[in-house]
Amino acid sequence: MSKGFLSDRALTFTPSVIQETSRLAERCGAINLAEGFPDFAAPSLLKEEAIKAIIEDLNQYRHVPQLCELIAKRFSARHGSVHPPLQIDPATEVVITCGQTEAMAAAVLAVVNPGDEVVLFNPTYETYPANVAMAGGVVRHCQLYPPNWSFREEELLAAVGPRCKAIVVNSPHNPTGKVFTDAELAIIARVCTSENLLALTDEVYEDLTYDDVEHRSLASFPGMRERTVVTSSLSKTFSVTGWRIGWAIAPPDIASAISNLHVKLTDSAPAPFQEAAVSALQSDVSYYRQLRQEYQERRDLVCDALEGEEFEIETRPKGGFFVFARIPERFRHGCDDVSFVSTLIEEAGVAIVPGSIFFHSPSPRASVTGGSAVANGTRTAGPGDDGSPHLTGHASVDEIINENQDYCSTLSTDYSKEYVRVAICKKKETLKAAISELQHYFDNTD
Ligand SMILES: Cc1ncc(COP(=O)(O)O)c(C=O)c1O
Repeated sequence: MSKGFLSDRALTFTPSVIQETSRLAERCGAINLAEGFPDFAAPSLLKEEAIKAIIEDLNQYRHVPQLCELIAKRFSARHGSVHPPLQIDPATEVVITCGQTEAMAAAVLAVVNPGDEVVLFNPTYETYPANVAMAGGVVRHCQLYPPNWSFREEELLAAVGPRCKAIVVNSPHNPTGKVFTDAELAIIARVCTSENLLALTDEVYEDLTYDDVEHRSLASFPGMRERTVVTSSLSKTFSVTGWRIGWAIAPPDIASAISNLHVKLTDSAPAPFQEAAVSALQSDVSYYRQLRQEYQERRDLVCDALEGEEFEIETRPKGGFFVFARIPERFRHGCDDVSFVSTLIEEAGVAIVPGSIFFHSPSPRASVTGGSAVANGTRTAGPGDDGSPHLTGHASVDEIINENQDYCSTLSTDYSKEYVRVAICKKKETLKAAISELQHYFDNTD
């Protein structure tokens, strides 16, 4: 195909490594523990409701107000113990989208101007840098350090420049399984309020926390309600990643902008599945309790097996769909995570994901500082700055996109190439079959 027709923006996007790994797994007939989708059935009630909606011909563009009401009610009930209680207006503060993916993309497009900066924690879920690039924004990183994948307050503050608009917070976290503690969320809240920033949260794993750890939304922290966009979805909690039902909860002006963008991007989420979502969100506590218990068992099954093969799991995941494990010492020399994963796919018949794809530059400021003047913009030191230059005015979108691409392709620290991500969201038979293949491979490999 002629390269000439493609936009500069499109040229910066590459295929998802995770989806590529999945395809390779399929070609090799490998067991797929790479992608974050369940291989087991969705709850019967949901399927029945979706079928009923199709039979009743609910086939047209659709907006189901009852769904917004349930999302608002559920969120207030979960995070309502704060003072003043978190009341969400379903009519003005909730937007239904095609999955969390669209909610986050629309939220970023709604608030980020070209040249604006967005802080991401490093490692990070792979779609956020792309969202920021789509808006012409610039990514700043704040490092998460093993073993607890926590961050340093001064580094978070240092990542916030004068053009910073927002911090993206994903908890429970993909890929590490970290659940941000109350103390950490309080620090992020403090930085957001003192620096006048928005928080864009991805709470897609909100129902999947383990060891009695509770999920807390950053929106429930003092001063955060009016500066947080919460995104989440039905995908993970109800094992329906292909139904594409998600939402954003945001202050009215931002919710309205997200809604306008959503209408221009996809118009509406699938009508029959919105109807089924109404039943899903009325599930009682026993559904969530059982879900957590089953996932915790899967987590332990996978962690025990990996530890038995000398993978290092400094902290067992406290939430989410993945175990982030350090490659056994004996395989770390002369072999990085990418070649380790390729070998496992081809020789052990098990597909997992190289950890390095989630890591980006640890000192992203260096990529932007020290350069010459930017087209359509200038670089100057900003107030409260460390003296390093920042973008001011409107840098050209091309330039900003190129900078983002650099971030994405730069692998940072030594440990970034020492991890693999293993999905636990599979039937126990699938996990046991994968474990048995891995054990067989490791027993026969020096
Ligand atoms: C952290 C995170 N956010 C969002 C998604 C996608 O959510 P959705 O299916 O609702 O678009 C995933 C899927 O893997 C994820 O891991």
